[in-house]
Amino acid sequence: MHILHVVGARPNFMKASPVMGALERWDGVNQTLIHTGQHYDRNMSELFFEQLELREPDFNLNVGSGSHAEQTANVMLCLERVVLEQKPNLVLVYGDVNSTLAAALVCAKLGISLGHVEAGLRSRDRSMPEEINRILTDQVADLLFTPSADADANLLAEGVPPEKIHCVGNVMIDTLIHLLPQASQSEVLKKLNLLNEHRQPISYVLVTLHRPSNVDDPETLSRLIAALQDISARLPVVFPMHPRTSNRLVKAGLVPERGKVQMVEPLGYLDFICLQCHATVVVTDSGGIQEESTYLGVPCLTMRDTTERPITVTMGTNQLIDQDTDKLVRQVECILAGQKKKGSIPPLWDGHASDRIATIIETWWHGESPTR
Ligand code: UD1
Repeated sequence: MHILHVVGARPNFMKASPVMGALERWDGVNQTLIHTGQHYDRNMSELFFEQLELREPDFNLNVGSGSHAEQTANVMLCLERVVLEQKPNLVLVYGDVNSTLAAALVCAKLGISLGHVEAGLRSRDRSMPEEINRILTDQVADLLFTPSADADANLLAEGVPPEKIHCVGNVMIDTLIHLLPQASQSEVLKKLNLLNEHRQPISYVLVTLHRPSNVDDPETLSRLIAALQDISARLPVVFPMHPRTSNRLVKAGLVPERGKVQMVEPLGYLDFICLQCHATVVVTDSGGIQEESTYLGVPCLTMRDTTERPITVTMGTNQLIDQDTDKLVRQVECILAGQKKKGSIPPLWDGHASDRIATIIETWWHGESPTR
């Protein structure tokens, strides 16, 4: 059986890595990896391939940045040629980025079977490009691998036949569990001056913000930066910055006071996980970080008014605080005062989601009806 994996942007890499690893253990499979090139900076792409032990892509489509239409269309044009030549039996796509939707459309038009890893998540906010990508990808997928029961319910409500839906758990958590021992060896705390004289981690806030809704409007971005500067008067704030955010800061002429908020380049996987493990609180608008912090039991304040990962709020340590910067400052104070939300780890976030995916694909390939 020939399986072709399509990845393109940073959050795809930690999802594809354990799935490829699990499929590798099955003798009858031949795998091809395609990188669309949506993310191309070394520290947004290559570094992740190295740390996640992902093999070199067999094809790089080098599509780069562009408008949504340009990016999606360029992936479609380049990928169609590769799919026609490679003739895979199944294409696997990951998450909700533009490359995911583009690949899904190519497969649907060519009549190639499609599997979607991380299917069924919904924020119900159609102004997010990712929400459109999720809905449309799930509509054309043949095998839908979901991380939690809420995702199954969303798919059933949209009319997806139940036999296509497989609740397997969270593949990002597979990677997290696998690489935690290596992440704990990272020197990042020392490098960023986050150790005390006994070499123990001090209290600090870890920030990531890159959603268009938070960073594209200069006024919103400026309010968020001002709030982070307020917080940095109480404890260090570390902000590894996505290129979209740094570009917007420069464009808006918003260079924060030096030294107060520690702005650094985007970090590799191992350094970032190490920082997350020891953070007093994480402030984010990322999807994956809401999940990782829930697994790690670290308080997470999400600067959005919706989440496609509600289980991180109902079961985990995540709290949605919209774009309310006063609330952000207040919640950080509460956490510092010891008022932390208690959470637990959702079912099937156990490090074996990828093994379940591999078993289901094998059974599907042999023409049986997989047990759910
Ligand atoms: C994309 C995903 C988002 C995901 C995020 C993780 C979509 C619609 N969005 O958003 O869901 O959370 O990746 O990082 O697919 N840039 C660089 N170097 C790079 C990549 C991007 O400088 O390697 C800059 C470019 O200026 C580019 C901008 O970042 O225009 C945005 O990149 P793009 O891939 O379009 O979207 P992201 O904001 O990264």
